[in-house]
Amino acid sequence: MRFQDRTVFVTGAGSGIGRATAKRCADEGATVVVTDVDVEGGEETVAEVEDSDRPGSAVLYELDVTDAAAFEDTVDAAAAEHGLDAIVNNAGVGQANCAMEELSLEDRDRILGINGKGVWNGCRAAIPHLKKQGSGSIVNVASLAGVIGQPFAAAYAFTKGGVTKFTKSLAGELGRHGVRANAVCPGFTDTPLVRGGLESRDDPEAAREKLESLYALDRIGQPEEIADAIRFLAGEESSFVTGHELVVDGGYSSG
Ligand code: NAI
Repeated sequence: MRFQDRTVFVTGAGSGIGRATAKRCADEGATVVVTDVDVEGGEETVAEVEDSDRPGSAVLYELDVTDAAAFEDTVDAAAAEHGLDAIVNNAGVGQANCAMEELSLEDRDRILGINGKGVWNGCRAAIPHLKKQGSGSIVNVASLAGVIGQPFAAAYAFTKGGVTKFTKSLAGELGRHGVRANAVCPGFTDTPLVRGGLESRDDPEAAREKLESLYALDRIGQPEEIADAIRFLAGEESSFVTGHELVVDGGYSSG
């Protein structure tokens, strides 16, 4: 088992890609620290791990990633109790489609706060532990939007582009301490985040078909397919990979 005796800390693990990551890591024996601002979602994830044949286990901590002090306390407490081998900074929010100048400043700040500062806070809290033990893996969940941009979602792309280069910078800082840092850049993936956007369209079914036709594989991703990439980067199979932006997009960016 790839994650036996290993602990993976996941933010936003109460839904979508974070939940799938928790389950995939538990499949390989991990103790998963499930964190989310949505306690109900987090409890469901823990139940899905615990009420299954998975060899791993899960514990829940309520955490809002925008609160730097709370993030530090939560990482410290979880590391003391369970250890810390990898952190997956996954929590994030999408953006309603609109022209850049039409996005309210409140929405801009909310998106920058969760998708940008939240990742920063997670790395800031975890790095002292990982440096001290001389090993560990940071996986930041960015987006294809952070690689190629996303018109009418400029605040979202702003944060995700920042996360990719932030992660590369950390890889350079942390390598000599035995710590790796990588970003996963998913294309559209079938989670509540995307389903909410599609359902707000006049004809959700037509909007989904149009979206899927843009992908070489003629479909959008499943959360488990992104979780597999995250799990690869979180564990030892990727021991010589750091500073990488792993695009998982069903061929969208292949043209
Ligand atoms: P989701 O909406 O299913 O799950 C996001 C989770 O983050 C939720 O459980 C939510 O409660 C949590 N969250 C939101 N704000 C939080 C906060 N302040 N503190 C702690 N937790 C918070 O979304 P999904 O699709 O699973 O997204 C996960 C990550 O993947 C996000 O960073 C998203 O930007 C990224 N992503 C998603 C894509 C998609 O198409 N679904 C594509 C590219 C990237």
